[in-house]
Parts: sequence; structure tokens; C-alpha cells
Amino acid sequence: MERDVFKIAENVYWVGVRDWNRRLFDALIPLPRGTSYNAYLVVGSGGKALIDTVNPGFENDLEEKIHVITSLEEIDYIIMNHAEPDHAGAIPHIMERAPKAKLITTGRGARMAQIYYHVPQEKIRVVGDNETINLGDKTLLFIEAPMLHWPETMFTYLKEDGILFPCDFLGAHLADGVYSDEVEDYIVHAQRYWSEIMMPFRSMARRALEKIANLDVRLIAPSHGPIHRKPELILNAYRRWAAGEASRKAVIVYVSMWGSTDRMVKQMAETLMAEGVKLAFHNLTIADIGDLAKDLVDSRAIILGAPTVLGGAHPLAVYAAYLFKALRPPTKFAAILSSYGWGGAAVRHIQEMLKDFKIEVVGALEINGPPTEEDMKKIVELGKSLASKIKGET
Ligand code: FEO
Repeated sequence: MERDVFKIAENVYWVGVRDWNRRLFDALIPLPRGTSYNAYLVVGSGGKALIDTVNPGFENDLEEKIHVITSLEEIDYIIMNHAEPDHAGAIPHIMERAPKAKLITTGRGARMAQIYYHVPQEKIRVVGDNETINLGDKTLLFIEAPMLHWPETMFTYLKEDGILFPCDFLGAHLADGVYSDEVEDYIVHAQRYWSEIMMPFRSMARRALEKIANLDVRLIAPSHGPIHRKPELILNAYRRWAAGEASRKAVIVYVSMWGSTDRMVKQMAETLMAEGVKLAFHNLTIADIGDLAKDLVDSRAIILGAPTVLGGAHPLAVYAAYLFKALRPPTKFAAILSSYGWGGAAVRHIQEMLKDFKIEVVGALEINGPPTEEDMKKIVELGKSLASKIKGET
């Protein structure tokens, strides 16, 4: 059998597709290595189930891959773990060609299937938490996992083989790789993916991790990126990230128009590094937003640098502050650095944006024009205070 329809366990097949050239997700998230839409076919002695489908545009690829194993007419169930079109977009195409197939989803998923994919109600079977479907020698167990990544989301667990199909959860945007332990920098991409998709829902992630803790999980088959045949590696990383465990690390995020803010944040960078703080540095004019989000996962502090322009903070800094709040990282401390030409407003603007976010602003410095020696000394002092907060000394 070709490698592109491969067996992950006895009578369980990967029938997904790789989107090598996709470079943007949700018109927001950069995908430097593309992504995959993993669908799986489970062939039981008494029934066949397709778990998730693929992104619109790949319907024929999925159909051809299923045909390598079985005909579509023989599919009994289409499991919709998640209604987002990258996994459910091919449902209308497949259901049209799989006349006896019932769509299996949660109550919320049923409404979405009707709205998004016009699946008739009589073709949908709603399953509850811990409900099972019997495929003869294989049993599918459904586990509700709301907000991972939409409200209707569920996981599917194949009992006899110990395979968890968690859709978006425990995935990565990578087109390459079959098994995660074969991909050298897998965990970096998994962390990036976590920050973009799961970090805002940390409490729901913790709940889901508890729910699956007692299952015998031997293989994790997510719907993006490689499969995990050493489940503890990704589960341990998710436990750390979901708990909000941060290290002695700070993220500098800034934009500068004429070099003054640039000099200020670089002084801050030198100070923090001299104090033993690990640093990630992002100039917003060239930053990869996914990389920035990844660095927020395990950082204790953020330093926002922005000049005043048109009566407020530079729009790129406003965008960054907005994203920061939306991603809800576990970051505890902040500092703000700013320079203005004739009227300062950036610091107030950023403080206003952060006011309902639980974060301690350790200090802010707003100066007129390029920084003086005196200003640089103030930044060093602020950097030292911030470093001692990051190191847990104050
Ligand atoms: Fe991969 Fe939330 O869809």
C-alpha cells in the first residue's frame, strides 16, 4: 500500500491530505511548513467509520484515498469531531456519495452541521459524553471537549486499539512528518500551534487532559500534523502549557519609527540578559506572529515598545497588545517603553488596552525624542526590577 494511505493500526488507516503550500490559516496564523488535514478510516467487523474529513478543495483526494480501502457506499458513520471547515468541509461531498452514512456529532455540532453543511437532521446522530458506537470488533467512545477548539468539539477514542482522535487538540501545523518522534523540531511547532489555537482555552484544556487521563492511550492521531506513537511526550508538554508554567524568560515586542524606541528596547534587552533572563526579541515590522505567540507560552514578562503616532500607540503595537489579550498567555509582568515627537500618548494607550488583563505593569517610561544617558539609566533600573520579578525575587 502506498505511503499516502497508511495503516496506523490493524484496520485503521490515515486517509488525510497534506497541504504543503498553505501559508496562512484563519487569515491570521502563518504556516511556515504548511499543514495537514488528517482523516482516518476505521474498519470494524460490523461497521466502517470515517473520522473527520478534509479542507474544501481536497474532497476528491479524500474520496480516492477512501477508495483504496473501501467504497464510500460501505461507510456507516462519519464522525465529525469538530465542525470547522478544515476538517468538516468535505462532509457534503462524502455524504452525497455515502448514502447509508450517518453523521456523528455532539448536540452543538448537529446545529453547525445543518448551518454550515446543510446535513439533513435525519442523517445526524447526536452522541453524548462517554457514549459509544459499536463497529463489531471495534468500539468508538466519544468524549466532549468543548472549546478545543470550538464549542461543539469532541474527541473520539478507539477502545480496542487505544487510539485517541482529538482533532485539533495535540496537533501541529506541519505538512511533513508521519510520526512526531521522527520530526526533529516537532515540539517547537507544537508549542507554536498551542499558542495560536489552544492557549486562550487553557482551563478547558486542563479539563480535557483530566478526562483522558484514565484512558489507555497508545497512539494519538490528531487532525493536524504528525501522529504520536509516544503519547507522553506531547501530553507532558500540554500539561505544562495548560498549567501556565513559565520560565525565566521575557518577550520584547516593539516597533520604532526613527530609532528611539529601538534604542530603548535594546538597552532593556541587554539589561535583562545581563540579569540572567532568557529573551525573545520581536520587531513587529518583520515579526512572525506565530513565533511571537509561541514565545508567550512560557514567558513571565512582556516588554512593549511603541512610539506615539497620530495621538496614540503605533498601530502595530495596538495590534500586538490586542493579540496578546486575545491569546491570554500566562505572562505575569509587563513594562512599556515609548518615545514621542511632540506629544506622548502611547503609554497611556497601551495601559488602557491592558487594564482588564491580569498583569502587573512593573514600570513604564515615555520620553521625548531620542533617549539620553539619564533615560538609559532609568531603563537599566526598570530592567533590573523586572528581572527580579521574573526570577521570583520580589
Ligand atoms: Fe483545525 Fe479548529 O480546525
